[in-house]
Amino acid sequence: MVDHPAYPVGLRLSGRRVVVIGGGQVAQRRLPALIAAGADITLVSPSATASVEAMVTAGEIRWERRRYAEGDLAETWYVLIATTDPEANARASAEAERARVWCVRSDDADAATAWTPATGRSEGVTVAVLTAGPQGRDPRRSAAVRDAIVEGLHNGTIAAPHHRTRTPGVALVGGGPGDPDLITVRGRRLLAEADVVIADRLGPRDLLAELPPHVEVIDAAKIPYGRFMAQEAINAALIEHARAGRAVVRLKGGDPYVFGRGMEELEALAEAGIPCTVVPGISSSISVPGAAGIPVTHRGVAHEFTVVSGHVAPEDERSLVDWDALARLRGTLVVLMGVDKIGAIARALVAGGRAPHTPVALIQEGTTASQRRVDATLATVAETVVAEDVRPPAVIVIGEVVEVGARAAAARPTADPVTRCPGRTR
Ligand SMILES: C[S@@+](CC[C@H](N)C(=O)[O-])C[C@H]1O[C@@H](n2cnc3c(N)ncnc32)[C@H](O)[C@@H]1O
Repeated sequence: MVDHPAYPVGLRLSGRRVVVIGGGQVAQRRLPALIAAGADITLVSPSATASVEAMVTAGEIRWERRRYAEGDLAETWYVLIATTDPEANARASAEAERARVWCVRSDDADAATAWTPATGRSEGVTVAVLTAGPQGRDPRRSAAVRDAIVEGLHNGTIAAPHHRTRTPGVALVGGGPGDPDLITVRGRRLLAEADVVIADRLGPRDLLAELPPHVEVIDAAKIPYGRFMAQEAINAALIEHARAGRAVVRLKGGDPYVFGRGMEELEALAEAGIPCTVVPGISSSISVPGAAGIPVTHRGVAHEFTVVSGHVAPEDERSLVDWDALARLRGTLVVLMGVDKIGAIARALVAGGRAPHTPVALIQEGTTASQRRVDATLATVAETVVAEDVRPPAVIVIGEVVEVGARAAAARPTADPVTRCPGRTR
């Protein structure tokens, strides 16, 4: 038979019977897309991986816990054959051929009547790549081409300007802790579509350099305040640019709703009748400790973590924090905006009953090239901060988990985030 190229097509499987034979790794990889397509899926297999079983438990697929039997493909539109038994695969494949059911085979692509392309999605576009031809199939190349296209659509280097539906109004985008790779895919896409970006001092500032020249970048820290308070001036700028019909991104550090004043901006926009979409971000409260090798929870060590703002000292009457209650907790305390007040915070915790030798880590400029970790205890942290010249932005972690990461680093000396911190001191 002449080796013609495959004919690409999009199958609309919603509500249609699809049979998957074999419940191993191949099924585990393929099933999510079939579920997302709304297919009516029956798995035929004596066993299944834990993830496939979870899909059964969730009611996403039906499971017939047995081997393939002749007749399984009756009334079927599409079959994926992926068992480790070549003889069963061949029998199922023969039934598919007789019944005119498109058949994908994991063990023998040449014997299959259909091939699964490398697929990805971006902005409502499904990208499906097949490499086939005189050189034969090349799934790795398909995946690489798919990745390049999806990445290009995500970050705007492949533009589809004529048909792109831009998000109207303002997008409050959580940019993550600083490493440009730690923004969400949605955040990055919205950034690529923006006409105006109003950015905070914290967050992935490197991404701003990548924006095309026509994009107006406004440094929120430098907005002239005039008779306004800072936040009011930012709200006013958001409203003004959105009213002028521009796509506005308010790029914030971490997550917009974790000490980020995101809700204030949302309310101001709602009052002005401007649509606003909020994109969550990776908060520094978890990711910065993680980047320094500290898990905020660890089995047998901490069953809770509490994130608290340290921008108001414990004795200050404006403080809304119950420091005595926090002192009685045994888990992890993560303090943001607390460098200036850490001495008073440590004193309050010790006075409330937390042991003076409780470990403390301060991680400055986490996830960036300047990341630095300094370790202390509640008894020594006030002095250490001064001696080591720790400066904001820093996340302060208090609790036994601080030592957990150090133990792991000692046991595994390479490729550990802690050992990658350039200026780490202990
Ligand atoms: C106004 S809060 C904003 C928090 C942000 N919305 C979040 O979810 O991460 C600013 C504080 O977050 C912490 N922070 C943010 N990014 C950081 C980073 N890359 N390294 C260390 N601390 C950071 C510092 O405690 C800083 O003072």
